Amino acid sequence: MDNVQTRPDRNLAMELVRVTEAAAIASARYLGRGDKNNGDKAAVDAMRAFLETVQMRGTVIIGEGEKDEAPMLYNGEIVGNGQGAEVDLAVDPVEGTRLLAEGRPNAVSVIAAAEKGSMWNPGSSFYMDKIVVETLARHVIDINKSPSTNLVNIAEALDRPVEDLTVFVLDKPRHASLIEDIRQIGARIMLSTDGDVMGALMAAIPGTGVDVLMGVGGTPEGVIAAAAVKALGGGMQGKRAPQKLEEKRKLREEGVDLGQVLRLDDLIRSNNTFFAATSISASSFLEGVRFDQRGGVSTESIVTRSLTGSVRYIKGIHQLNRKFEEGGSLGTTPAHVAMDIITTDD
Ligand code: FBP
Repeated sequence: MDNVQTRPDRNLAMELVRVTEAAAIASARYLGRGDKNNGDKAAVDAMRAFLETVQMRGTVIIGEGEKDEAPMLYNGEIVGNGQGAEVDLAVDPVEGTRLLAEGRPNAVSVIAAAEKGSMWNPGSSFYMDKIVVETLARHVIDINKSPSTNLVNIAEALDRPVEDLTVFVLDKPRHASLIEDIRQIGARIMLSTDGDVMGALMAAIPGTGVDVLMGVGGTPEGVIAAAAVKALGGGMQGKRAPQKLEEKRKLREEGVDLGQVLRLDDLIRSNNTFFAATSISASSFLEGVRFDQRGGVSTESIVTRSLTGSVRYIKGIHQLNRKFEEGGSLGTTPAHVAMDIITTDD
């Protein structure tokens, strides 16, 4: 009889958050140091080390990094301790490497997981147009409609004047006309140079100060955000938006329909998604990593599971100066792993 577990039957995100905590702590040492690659590498190394301890048979479907040829957990990499459920994973050890290097808000370490075979692999698609809202407006969004029509419909669904809405937009030259449209209709704008996973989270969670995410960002980041938006009950639509001729040519050659609207269920075909994110630098709703004079490190994370709709904010206090015995062997905390990596690298 085959009694091997194939589907996750518990909240895997509660374990994955230890992985994002370790990656966030490791990379936080690089905040504002102008060193994108080493900040990313510290997070990748910590994430890889901690993934080994998680009870799962995971396959990395989306290992962010290809786009920039950054150090990465590569697509197809098998992770986990080889026991337990089979899952697809999307990882982004540092979402917002430039934010980290420049010491700006919203850099985050993030992992999404879902049942094996359910996560969309974006393949040659690097960029997609996105719209994300909270639950009350999820039925009114339509990515094929203009930004102003969407904003009017969202305002009506939220029963608020359009002037009260705040739209998160990545600060990129490609968004000049989007920004103009939003200004014309009278909504407010929050610009950030990077980090649209945090933008999507803020848009899907009521009360964060952001009501809508609009604009073109990474396709991998879109799949990662979808795992959280599903649990938060928000609405999300996407559409491939190749930014370079080469990307467009490849997608055409592959016969991809560039007009296809990607809904939450296209991005992840499962209602059992897991998401964990730990803030590296502070955002408007999560504290960044803080190093304490007594040797402690504090982290703040958000952990979600779509099957149950559970959303947890987890504040971690990790002691760097304490080792402990666990089952006869030296135990480790995210902070220990992160410190080992930092001291080896520095
Ligand atoms: P990195 O984690 O690779 O630094 O990505 C940051 C990011 O801003 C994402 O949040 C966003 O989806 C994507 O890059 C946008 O890409 P680009 O900066 O090339 O426009």
